[in-house]
Amino acid sequence: MNVPNHIAIILDGNGRWAKKRGMPRSYGHVKGCANLETICDVMKDLGVKYLTVYAFSTENWKRSKEEIDGLMKLFRNYLKKCISISDRNKMRVKIIGDITAFDKDIQDSIIKLEEHSSQYDELHFQIALNYGARDEMVRGVRRMLEDCRTGKLNPEDMDEKCFSGYLDTAGIPDPDLMIRTSGEQRLSNFLLWQLAYTEFYFTPVAWPDFDKEELIRIIEKYNERDRRYGGVKEE
Ligand code: FPP
Repeated sequence: MNVPNHIAIILDGNGRWAKKRGMPRSYGHVKGCANLETICDVMKDLGVKYLTVYAFSTENWKRSKEEIDGLMKLFRNYLKKCISISDRNKMRVKIIGDITAFDKDIQDSIIKLEEHSSQYDELHFQIALNYGARDEMVRGVRRMLEDCRTGKLNPEDMDEKCFSGYLDTAGIPDPDLMIRTSGEQRLSNFLLWQLAYTEFYFTPVAWPDFDKEELIRIIEKYNERDRRYGGVKEE
């Protein structure tokens, strides 16, 4: 089995999963969080080098205060626990998105986790938090214009590679496979630039139920697809 170098996942369906069981949405997020830990171990064992997950979008702030509070509590705990997960999997963790919107203690935990795990390179794990691809591009363009203004960048030197370097994912190869769980077939503002040539797979399985067997089924399907250079079929 040819394992993709970089897998991106839109974690979807926690709320519906919980509702189906007569439980509050927050219960779905707790289960989803536990599953994220399991799937990181699975990815490492399969030999996937890069994993990027969409955990909290710039749009997600519109959810109820109760749900946001629950998610922040979950992020707080997870970011601390992730130190030992990174040790276990020799995993380098990077948060993509605008973290300045989070409380100071969450930002501090993010910096601590990124610094602690920077020694590892078996699995590169990117977590998108307060992430939106349009916001990422606008923030990148702002920095780029500032570099032009101060003479650090010559506008003539701007090309695709240079532009990629201004994104949150600078230095990370583009995903080979993008999976969205729970049946929706949308990108929801996830990695719009980076997914230009990526294979997409939409599974009806809700995130808390997504497991190793489903992942392997998807990777096998990915292998069956006619994949040529750049994803563009030659005639
Ligand atoms: C989508 O389900 C999930 C989220 C908006 C939050 C994702 C969060 C986790 C998986 C928790 C763990 C993550 C980290 C990084 C600790 P949904 O609520 O949109 O489900 P629905 O579409 O069924 O309502």
